[in-house]
Amino acid sequence: MRKIYIFDTTLRDGEQSPGVNLNTKEKVEIALQLEKLGVDRIEAGFPAASPGDLAAVNAVARAIKNASVIGLSRSREQDIDAAREALQGAQDPCLHLFLATSPIHRKHKLRMEKEQVLETAEKAIRYAKRYFDKIEFSPEDAGRTELDFLCEVTAMAIRAGATVVNIPDTVGYMTPSEFGNIFKTLKNEVVGIEKIQLSAHCHDDLGMATANALAAILNGADQIEGTINGIGERAGNTAIEEVAMTLATRADFFQATTSLQLTEIAKTSRLVSKLTGMVVPGNKAIVGANAFAHESGIHQDGMLKEKTTYEIISPETIGLKESKLVLGKHSGRHAFREKLIDLGYELEEEAVNVAFAKFKDLADKKKDVSDEDIRALLEEKLIDTPE
Ligand code: KIV
Ligand code: ZN
Repeated sequence: MRKIYIFDTTLRDGEQSPGVNLNTKEKVEIALQLEKLGVDRIEAGFPAASPGDLAAVNAVARAIKNASVIGLSRSREQDIDAAREALQGAQDPCLHLFLATSPIHRKHKLRMEKEQVLETAEKAIRYAKRYFDKIEFSPEDAGRTELDFLCEVTAMAIRAGATVVNIPDTVGYMTPSEFGNIFKTLKNEVVGIEKIQLSAHCHDDLGMATANALAAILNGADQIEGTINGIGERAGNTAIEEVAMTLATRADFFQATTSLQLTEIAKTSRLVSKLTGMVVPGNKAIVGANAFAHESGIHQDGMLKEKTTYEIISPETIGLKESKLVLGKHSGRHAFREKLIDLGYELEEEAVNVAFAKFKDLADKKKDVSDEDIRALLEEKLIDTPE
């Protein structure tokens, strides 16, 4: 099994979600939980962005012992100096430098020709190399960069001393086959590519962030960047829990694994949601409230007979107690009967039938039927039932 490194950017790209602002204490709390989860790398922030973020990155750097701590930096000396200051005290510091390379960014944002982009990035990497052993370089908007130029940029970054080259699909524009092809081409064409790790950083604008990250793995990526619950700029980033659980569930296909403690996933998700205020949608893969809930009668019947009929992951794997059979209008008699037993009611067949009919009436009027509803219905039924 090939190991895929997990680079968590919940505290940097995740914090770039509109409306999210984490203070130092909150960043440290999340970082410590990410350390428990077993991520390899934690991007703690963008130190040049504000004195507060610099202090927060420093607090994370000092608190974390079992993961590399990373600070983001534009390709300029002042940013690199801020990151140096922020990463003081880190056990395993790493600088993450970026510069945009796509034609759109070169023309409208940077107003630079290709040569200037190469020179600026190389100068920054060489300057940073005086202070950092580990440097990740990201050609921002790599997904929309000409592939031959991306190969040139990658070769330059390797010569200048980068240890990881990260390929960001900054605007979530790629499809899995296109994104996979970038990795295949870099692996085949770039001299010295074996000396570094290749990384994938995807955004979810078209809902393909996880699929694109997986395509990158199939084509040789060593590292995946992402966030817990997939939070991040605009539609968010690759959700780390989705990548980890896909590799764990489909090891037969990917032949790759992560070093995550999967049983910490649910707890990490809840903490990130609480501290960022970003509510996890009920239907979110792996961590949504409905990810292990079954409502229809046919599914509930299958679940009661054998869980693998409708569950490809057991909830215990991610640290949850059990799956839920939610009673609603699609639920069947089998699940209803199990619920009665759970609630302590041992009824004769005929009484179950009466109660089930009443339950169906109620379920037509109400989305979810709670335990309290069932108790109320049963008490009423017991009074109503003739001798
Ligand atoms: O999406 C992006 O391009 C980024 C870079 C800074 C890596 O977040
Ligand atoms: Zn990003």
